[in-house]
Amino acid sequence: MFKQKFKYFKRKNPNPDFDTILDIRAGDPQFLTVHELEGDLQNCHIQNNLLGLKEFAEWKVYELKSCPGLIFILNPFTSLGQRYWIARSVADYSRKPSLTNLDNQDAIQKNLDGKTWWEVAGRCNDNNSLSKKLRWATMGYHHNWDSKVYSEEAKSPLPNDLSLLSKHIVKTVLNIDFHPEASIVNYYFMDSFLSGHVDRSERNLVAPLVSLSFGQTAVFLVGGRTLDENPEAMLLESGDIVIMVGNSRFRYHGVPRIISAKRQPWKELLYHDNYKKCPVIEDDYRVEGTPYDGANRVTWDFVQHEKFWLPFDKYLNGARINLNVRQVI
Ligand code: OGA
Ligand code: MN
Repeated sequence: MFKQKFKYFKRKNPNPDFDTILDIRAGDPQFLTVHELEGDLQNCHIQNNLLGLKEFAEWKVYELKSCPGLIFILNPFTSLGQRYWIARSVADYSRKPSLTNLDNQDAIQKNLDGKTWWEVAGRCNDNNSLSKKLRWATMGYHHNWDSKVYSEEAKSPLPNDLSLLSKHIVKTVLNIDFHPEASIVNYYFMDSFLSGHVDRSERNLVAPLVSLSFGQTAVFLVGGRTLDENPEAMLLESGDIVIMVGNSRFRYHGVPRIISAKRQPWKELLYHDNYKKCPVIEDDYRVEGTPYDGANRVTWDFVQHEKFWLPFDKYLNGARINLNVRQVI
C-alpha cells in the first residue's frame, strides 16, 4: 500500500490527482486536531524574534488524528527568518566540520580546489550542475548511511543556532527539554524523492524528531508501522515544521515528489518583516566573487542584502531543503 501510493505520486505521465492530498492548511477537524502550545509561553516568547519566528498568536499547530504524535507547525517563520535558515543550510551547514556526499568525490574536490561547494556553486550564473551535486550534509553525531549506527568517533559540534531553534520549538509545543545531537540536511531538486523509511537509528526513540522544510513543496507520505498500511499524503511548504513524537516515530514516511511552491515566503521580505528597523547595510558587495570570505558565516544582516541573497534565491527556484534534528542518546 505504501509503495503503491508512493509510485502513484512519483509518476509524471499521467500526473497523479493532487486534489486527493490532505490540505493541512484547511485545518479540517475530521483529520486534524488543534495542538495547544504546552510550554511556558511567557518565558519562551522572547526567543521568537531572535530565531526568526513569528509571535505565538500567529502559530497554527495541528496533530494528525490518524497518527497521534505527528505534529505540524504551519510556517511559523518570518520571511527574514526563512532567508536566514535557508542561507545557513546552503552556505554554512554544507561546510566543514559537516560531512557531505561530496567529501569523497575526487573529481569534485579537485574542481573546488580548496574552496567550499557554495563559494563555487553560488557564483555560477548559468544552470550549473555543481549546485545540484550536493545531496546531504550531516552535523553533530554523523548519520552513517551504511551502518545506520551513530558513533562517538564520528561527531562534530551541532551549530548553536540550530540547537537553540530545535530546543525552542520542542519546549514551546510539547514542554519537553530536547537535547539536539544530530542533524541531517537533505537537499532536494525537482526530480528528487526519499523512499519510505522509519528513522530508528537513534538510541533514544522517545525523544521527538524535528524536521524543517524550506523552498519548493514536498508531497509527504505518512503510513503505518508496516508498509501494508495506506499512507496519508500531505504537502510540506516552505517554513513548515514537522515534529514526530511518540508512536508517530515508528510510522513509515517518505517524499515521493517535489512540486512547485504555491507560496514563496522567502521572497516577501519587504512586506512582512521589520526590515526598515534594521541597520542599513552598505551596498559594498562585489558583484563578482563571494560577498563574504571563507572565514565568515551567514548573518542576519547579510540575508537582508539583496545582492547577497540573490544566489540563494536562484538556488531555491529548483530546490527544497529538509533540515532535521534528532536526539541520539
Ligand atoms: C528524513 C526525512 C523528510 C523530509 O530525512 O529522515 O524523513 O521532509 N525527511 O524531507
Ligand atoms: Mn525520516
